[in-house]
Amino acid sequence: MTKHIVVAVTGGIAAYKAATVVRDLMKAGWDVRVMMTAQATKFVTPLTFATLTDHAVATTLGPADQPLVHVELARWADAMVVVPATANVLSKAAWGIADDLVTTTLCAAACPRLFIPAMNDQMYANPAVQRNITQLRADGARVMEPATGLLAEGYAGKGRLPAPAEISAWIHRQLVHGTALAGKHVLVTAGPTREYLDPVRYLTNPSSGRMGYALAAAARDQGAVVTLVSGPTALDPVPGVTLVAVQTSAEMAQAVFDRQEQADVIIAAAAVADYGVEHPAPEKIKKSGADLTLHLHQTKDIIATVAKNKRPDQYVVGFAAETTAVAEHARTKLQKKQLDMVVANDVSEQEIGFGSRENAVTIFTPDKAPQEVTRASKHAIATTIIQAIARHLGQVSDHQ
Ligand SMILES: Cc1cc2nc3c(=O)[nH]c(=O)nc-3n(C[C@H](O)[C@H](O)[C@H](O)COP(=O)(O)O)c2cc1C
Repeated sequence: MTKHIVVAVTGGIAAYKAATVVRDLMKAGWDVRVMMTAQATKFVTPLTFATLTDHAVATTLGPADQPLVHVELARWADAMVVVPATANVLSKAAWGIADDLVTTTLCAAACPRLFIPAMNDQMYANPAVQRNITQLRADGARVMEPATGLLAEGYAGKGRLPAPAEISAWIHRQLVHGTALAGKHVLVTAGPTREYLDPVRYLTNPSSGRMGYALAAAARDQGAVVTLVSGPTALDPVPGVTLVAVQTSAEMAQAVFDRQEQADVIIAAAAVADYGVEHPAPEKIKKSGADLTLHLHQTKDIIATVAKNKRPDQYVVGFAAETTAVAEHARTKLQKKQLDMVVANDVSEQEIGFGSRENAVTIFTPDKAPQEVTRASKHAIATTIIQAIARHLGQVSDHQ
């Protein structure tokens, strides 16, 4: 994966949103340095970005102590991202004009150059701006489509900076080497669910959500558009992934069913409660002095329902967290629920599986011998699972 990104902030009203993009890129593991145009510093101070990145922010060409900062940064960068990109900077970059730090570094950079334009709709529609964007693309730069929505001017039009999460996802899709799931929509469930007994008590399990979050990140890194339906966890959202937060198994089921249509791959890594209380008490249950018997009903089997309703081109992956006869249960689950893949893990071992940072799994599919993935970080396991899915989808060969 690309490691170093230079983010160039230019003088548009959306400059403040670049702070969120920078933070998201850093969270996703990129090493980020920021440079700003003089006009950009009127919208946001360099101190904001210096504090976020813990590195000085370059704003001028050749200060006496660093005369070749543009060349150094252009060499250091594995990619340059201009966010927001003004009409002015797009036009200068298209023409090779190099009259300040940002444009000179863009001119000196041999790495991928990514532009995320944001401007007034009439500026964006201006034929000169469109010509310059076409030229940049012809020169190999990537230019993101602006969003249509409420502009700073108070009316709707095309030119708005897309949401930071969409920007991060787009940057990932442009830069990561893996494209095994390029253009695919992947829906992942993660974490535990809460089955409420009353407004303040619930049944749950110790799932941390880490496996599902790692799968969402790994799918994103292979170019997929990812939605993560997550029960309550202590984890940070995955940059570039759309997060849908739910609590109960019923909410998780609804969130998944609502999005099944658009998904090419559905990975059910959540530890969904099998049993819950059908009618939770509307008020806190009072201590009565006597024992309390709970009547639990079976919750909806999300993955089985998804598999039953799936289109032939959709690929459905289930997880089997078992404490005994892991392989046997996994095979049964594969057949009974008509899944395309079951990832089985033995949660009886204390140090792996539930809640831990590591895992060891076996991947079962109907047509191939089981693939054992020995103990590794959940991130590494997730990458292996995503590659296995891509292979089964025919996106990559067995040798990749
Ligand atoms: C309040 C204000 C908001 C602006 N917003 C934008 C914008 O969103 N997009 C844009 O292309 N230019 C915008 N401009 C114009 C640019 O700041 C101007 O073209 C400037 O020369 C850009 O400099 P730079 O590209 O070196 O940062 C805005 C100007 C002002 C005063």
